[in-house]
Amino acid sequence: MVIAIDGPAGAGKSTVARTLAQQLGFTYLDSGAMYRCVALISRARPEVAAAELAKAARIELGGGTDAPATRPGPGSVVMLDGRDVTEAIRTPDISQAASQVAADPGVRTAIVARQRELIARGDWVVEGRDIGTVVAPHADLKIFLTADPQERARRRAAELGVDPGSVLEDMERRDERDAAREHSPMVAAQDALLIDTTGLEVQDVIGRIAQLARRLRADLGDAPAS
Ligand code: C5P
Repeated sequence: MVIAIDGPAGAGKSTVARTLAQQLGFTYLDSGAMYRCVALISRARPEVAAAELAKAARIELGGGTDAPATRPGPGSVVMLDGRDVTEAIRTPDISQAASQVAADPGVRTAIVARQRELIARGDWVVEGRDIGTVVAPHADLKIFLTADPQERARRRAAELGVDPGSVLEDMERRDERDAAREHSPMVAAQDALLIDTTGLEVQDVIGRIAQLARRLRADLGDAPAS
């Protein structure tokens, strides 16, 4: 079973997706971490086309593809070509660079192929921008999380330990680029459930999605609706 969680930065995707995966016993996939990895290598090797780097990169997420990520914080362990880049991919600079390389169709083709291969078997909660529309259009459950920009900036700032004013502009620039790009723009799938998380407790959002997932699983006959 695949649950797709899309939406802009700071809408609560990571917390919701990771906790949901833990609660349901699914594997969590942070698709944005892959674009961040490509941005990081691209910085180090600007002479090579980003799509080539994306094809060749060895990206390992969450210490393996079977175990749900358990590490707290903005991301689980990310290894790139054998190096721990967990912290290095989370800088504001790499956030912008990731959104730039993510607009490259060659990069997307390489990364989407890997993501599809990963989620072909087993139960997954996948977070990103194009999961419900491109990576897993047949996902069993699609959620699009939003929140007003001020609140999203506050959440991002709390994650990064900085002032909300300093992240708002960067965040809006990145969201505009992600939503306006020609290939796989950030957009809610037609059959996605839209949840505006402004003013909502994250636990309530998780509870609501978990309930939907359990009901679906029971309907599919996979497991009891516990
Ligand atoms: O989710 P996160 O902020 O880590 O993603 C970093 C960037 O990667 C996004 O701003 C977006 O440009 C890109 N991305 C994407 N498609 C995804 C996930 C992330 O284009 N499925």
